[in-house]
Amino acid sequence: MRFDVLTLFPELFEPHLALGVTRRAFETRQVDVRLWPLREYGEGAYRRIDDRPFGGGPGMVMLADPLQRALSAVRAERTDAVPLVHFSPTGRPLTQALVREFAAGPGAVLLCGRYEGIDQRFLDRHVDLELSLGDFVLSGGELPALALLDAVARLQPGVLNDAESHEQDSFSGDGLLDCPHYSRPEFWGEGDAATAVPAVLLSGHHAQIARWRRERSLQITAQRRPDLIIAARAAGRLSQADERYLAQLVI
Ligand SMILES: C[S@@+](CC[C@H](N)C(=O)[O-])C[C@H]1O[C@@H](n2cnc3c(N)ncnc32)[C@H](O)[C@@H]1O
Repeated sequence: MRFDVLTLFPELFEPHLALGVTRRAFETRQVDVRLWPLREYGEGAYRRIDDRPFGGGPGMVMLADPLQRALSAVRAERTDAVPLVHFSPTGRPLTQALVREFAAGPGAVLLCGRYEGIDQRFLDRHVDLELSLGDFVLSGGELPALALLDAVARLQPGVLNDAESHEQDSFSGDGLLDCPHYSRPEFWGEGDAATAVPAVLLSGHHAQIARWRRERSLQITAQRRPDLIIAARAAGRLSQADERYLAQLVI
């Protein structure tokens, strides 16, 4: 799969693509990321990329023409009809379900906005999907693009080892939140009961450990994201034992 990223700050990508478990996916081009520095498509000697907004007001707007030139260059190089994704706080929230779709697809062209945003006429003509990272405002679309690339790369075969399997992650498998995790030492801090690892995790009893993890996952999800419990129930992903546990839970 291939992602072409239109950005004013390609330098922001390189360190992130070279680190962590996802590095191999990018280095081997399992997830092929091509950076297109928008400044190179700017207007005039100063490579201008933005101008004042019509109607007045603060901030600058990214110009349609430089973006058109950059997009034409990308489309000339790749002829498959991958979607153009624009990152914006006004977009659809990025979810693990969408990440899974991208992870199984041919890639996309990713457009990173800056300033007040992009001339709406360019967006209207070219953008297939607008994605938001959440209900907050960043200074640019580069971090959202990196978030998508990271989330897609870690789903590629061979990127995570078994111990890091994404099947048990939040929003994966059954769509619930993940359970808590513990490691050594067995007693941490003052060594009193409050800082002990839950005993069942030391029992070696696989079925009980699995049940404990499932119940913690159900508990956390019911407390923090009851909408995910409703969705899991509607999708038939809750067992009778799950329902019995939820019924006695005091939230
Ligand atoms: C300062 S923001 C512009 C915010 C815009 N005026 C608004 O209020 O919706 C500059 C750029 O950062 C990116 N951006 C900021 N917050 C984002 C978010 N929550 N999700 C996705 N992209 C975001 C977008 O590409 C946006 O064009």
